[in-house]
Amino acid sequence: MNDTPFKLLIIDDDEIIHEMIKSSLNTDITIYNAYEAKHAFEILNDQSIDFVFCDYSLPGMNGHQILSIIRENFPDVLVVMVSSHTDSDTIIGAMRNGAIDFLCKPFSTDSVNISLERAMRMKVLFNDLNRLNKQTARLKDDLAEIEGVSFIGESSSAKQVKSLIIKVSKSRDTSVLITGESGTGKELVAKGIHQFSERAPFYFGAVNTPAIQDTLFESEFFGHTKGSFTGAVADKAGWLEVANKGTMFLDEIGDLPEMLQVKLLRALEERKYSKVGSSKEIPFDVRIIAATNKTKEELASGKTLRTDLYHRIAAFIINIPPLRERREDIPILVNHFINHFSGKMRIKIERIEKDALKELSNYSFPGNVRELRNLIERAMILTDGKILGKAHFPDICSQSTTQPIDGSNQIVTGIDCCDIYDLEELEKQTIIKVLQICENNKSKAAQMLNIKWNALDRRLTKFNIEI
Ligand SMILES: Nc1ncnc2c1ncn2[C@@H]1O[C@H](COP(=O)(O)OP(=O)(O)OP(=O)(O)O)[C@@H](O)[C@H]1O
Ligand SMILES: [Mg+2]
Repeated sequence: MNDTPFKLLIIDDDEIIHEMIKSSLNTDITIYNAYEAKHAFEILNDQSIDFVFCDYSLPGMNGHQILSIIRENFPDVLVVMVSSHTDSDTIIGAMRNGAIDFLCKPFSTDSVNISLERAMRMKVLFNDLNRLNKQTARLKDDLAEIEGVSFIGESSSAKQVKSLIIKVSKSRDTSVLITGESGTGKELVAKGIHQFSERAPFYFGAVNTPAIQDTLFESEFFGHTKGSFTGAVADKAGWLEVANKGTMFLDEIGDLPEMLQVKLLRALEERKYSKVGSSKEIPFDVRIIAATNKTKEELASGKTLRTDLYHRIAAFIINIPPLRERREDIPILVNHFINHFSGKMRIKIERIEKDALKELSNYSFPGNVRELRNLIERAMILTDGKILGKAHFPDICSQSTTQPIDGSNQIVTGIDCCDIYDLEELEKQTIIKVLQICENNKSKAAQMLNIKWNALDRRLTKFNIEI
């Protein structure tokens, strides 16, 4: 069971009890003797004692007090109480206080050995459990370091993002603001922070702020009481309550109406909130992670996000650069998504041709990683073989040459990319062209551009495109 003999400390003011225990034991164990509490604690401090047989009535300090001190300061030490007080109150009190067994004086040789054997079995189990816990913690850390959660990328900026995820996940309450264009992986990063924090076993809730009606947001977020407004037929828990001990991710925080920004700020500052229709303040234990695709300058201007809320939430900022600024991540991501979809679609892609990869590496990816993911998924649906080539990426190889496969996959032609050196202008022209193709149907255009509907809407405002 154990390479080195276990260590037993006997605490009793009666020499005869020491002798009786010692002569009863038929196990190879190192015995230490203490006749009063002070000496016992010296031994506990100096030796790694495994078990204590402790008398209940000692001069100066009773067994109950000694037991409490041992539980608090030497939690790995297992204590068997020994006493002639065999009333149920004493026994139950000792067990409740953390003793693992109770030996009634006078005791038999057998009962001493049975107590010790039971303690030894428990000790082995505890040691195994401790080892497993340490191993799990180490593995979790290693995995986090190596994999950097599921955020894939080896460019220096991707490595920086991964390292920030790991760092901030260790602090329980710090609010985080994740910035980056649409599709750069903001939600993925938020999930990573949650996953590697001690909040991981609890709820992770993601709220797409622009998708929630302003009037509903407050009651969804904070909850409401019955009768607080027409339709409030019963008390309702808000997300803050549902996500207790977990993490709430607020996507596009800049789209939160001003009044709600004020309420959110107050809740974050006081770590308390009130339900709609109630003045009762309820404490909450939820980490808030927010995201925005606004630039730092736009945010600092206070036009979309109140400056005070920005400073409150931006205790820790993680900026994810667009994919076109970390092109060395493209091949790794391509590989990752090929493996991902191979598993899902149960097909085996052996490789991607060099010229196809080159085209992908040179592409501007206005929809960032989401767009790359969608391109790979589509290419894998298109292919009949085991190799992905240029033909499977008509949308990008197209920017100059390829013909569209069908109406839904039309490629944006008619923009002379060589004449446009400004990426924003290229993005604007692409959107205008796609809108023309889709006859101003925004949903279709968003689908074709591989971005979300609201992301397209924001770009229309940004570029002053009227339809
Ligand atoms: N570095 C990455 N490694 C692996 N997958 C990624 C990475 N970045 C993004 N993705 C994937 O790309 C898709 C889009 O990511 P996500 O939804 O997190 O982006 P976002 O920044 O929140 O976008 P939006 O602003 O449109 O809400 C997801 O499927 C995500 O898993
Ligand atoms: Mg998102």
